[in-house]
Amino acid sequence: MNPFLEVINLRKEFFLHILNDKKIDALEDINFSMNHGEIIGLTGKSGSGKSSLMKCLYGTYLINEGSVMYDSSQYGKIDLAKATEHEILRIRKKELTYCSQFLQVIPRVPALEIVAEQLIADGVDEGDALEKARSFLNRLGLPEELWDAYPSTFSGGEQQRINVAQAIISEPRFLLIDEPTASLDVRTKDVVIQMILDLKKSGTSVILITHDAYTLANLADRELKLTNGRIEEAEVATA
Ligand SMILES: Nc1ncnc2c1ncn2[C@@H]1O[C@H](COP(=O)(O)OP(=O)(O)O)[C@@H](O)[C@H]1O
Ligand SMILES: [Mg+2]
Repeated sequence: MNPFLEVINLRKEFFLHILNDKKIDALEDINFSMNHGEIIGLTGKSGSGKSSLMKCLYGTYLINEGSVMYDSSQYGKIDLAKATEHEILRIRKKELTYCSQFLQVIPRVPALEIVAEQLIADGVDEGDALEKARSFLNRLGLPEELWDAYPSTFSGGEQQRINVAQAIISEPRFLLIDEPTASLDVRTKDVVIQMILDLKKSGTSVILITHDAYTLANLADRELKLTNGRIEEAEVATA
């Protein structure tokens, strides 16, 4: 079968202008492929390049060398490293979701609306979208009195629940998610793990960054470990 994603010889460097353009080789010789419906756990020490790799796949960072061959529902096989701005935007709109580690707080928009927003943008009836958002927040254990409040004042764990809910509610075809369980208690962690497993059942392929052995063991099919910007592949021990 066609791989879902195939990353070939990806290299990414940064130049630090404040340090006389000192060069940082953030990612080198990155080669891996991913099957449809697979969940890959991206691990490695802080500074090893995990977030940079995710941003290279999403197109936030332009890569210096290599290809990111993606089996798109709209375009078929497409090299994201060479795709046009228009193609990237359409892929992000219809297929690919990136969920950063922290909620980008939107001022004066209530939690429930933030979570329902993508569904409404996708054309789902507003009442149905809000209903689904309520059921997500309920499952994630966000107290009901917070549903109409603004998340800027929420705790880290509460913000994380909004962040994860808004990223997965519209069941993206391809999900990139950075540390989805980092500030959650064990019960909520289990809920998030189950929600992402439900997505997988509906056909979503996932790359997740995690430092958490429990999340890795219970969620990932395979581990991809980065050491100093290079891949060192290892099997995940099943829980
Ligand atoms: N925008 C950037 N500009 C310059 N250096 C960066 C940038 N983003 C990341 N880096 C550097 O690239 C390396 C990898 O960082 P990062 O991908 O954030 O690692 P991780 O997510 O594994 O902690 C680090 O040395 C970091 O300082
Ligand atoms: Mg990171």
